[in-house]
Amino acid sequence: NPYTLAAIALGYLLGSIPFGYLLTRAAGLGDVRAIGSGNIGATNVLRTGHKGLAALTLLLDALKGTAAVLVGHWIGAQGGEAIMASLLAGLAAFVGHVFPAWLQFRGGKGVATYIGVLLGVDWRAALTFCAVWLAIALVTRYSSLSALIAALATPVGLLAIGDIATGLLAALMSALLIYKHRANIRRLAAGEEPRIGAKA
Ligand code: G3P
Repeated sequence: NPYTLAAIALGYLLGSIPFGYLLTRAAGLGDVRAIGSGNIGATNVLRTGHKGLAALTLLLDALKGTAAVLVGHWIGAQGGEAIMASLLAGLAAFVGHVFPAWLQFRGGKGVATYIGVLLGVDWRAALTFCAVWLAIALVTRYSSLSALIAALATPVGLLAIGDIATGLLAALMSALLIYKHRANIRRLAAGEEPRIGAKA
């Protein structure tokens, strides 16, 4: 179905916009990949000391995922596959964020975009992810650990309540998210992971 393919392509393009990289550049802070963990996400933008920029990165990296799902739904509807196209466009946006062609396919770790994609598909799933993230973050102050536990809990929860389509989407995104956090997992195990907001 050409409409579904177009939705996927557009999803990838939206997802691959590296807001953290672009915003820190535009703010004259240089290349965010040269500081902290080297990641282009909001957690690492926060290590520049600019809270507003970090919040904006989180918001825009999330909203591009939401936009991909909504636009994918609309394009897919033209070809009679609205739901499938919206889920695939969301997945494509997530893949675009994690592997952007413009940054030699070295993108972010996917937390914000994961939330944004889920928000477009089912806001309750997004809320679940955020609630788990926040609970773990309040207790541990580790951004990465919070994301890892939220990424395990969300697909399990969705599959447990029988939402197979959203559950599978979440499981695929979680697999990539966990893979992208492998350096964080090593640091957590070694007790060397910096807490949220610690400057680079
Ligand atoms: O959102 C990414 C976060 O989980 C870890 O980021 O920069 O600490 O590797 P970072």
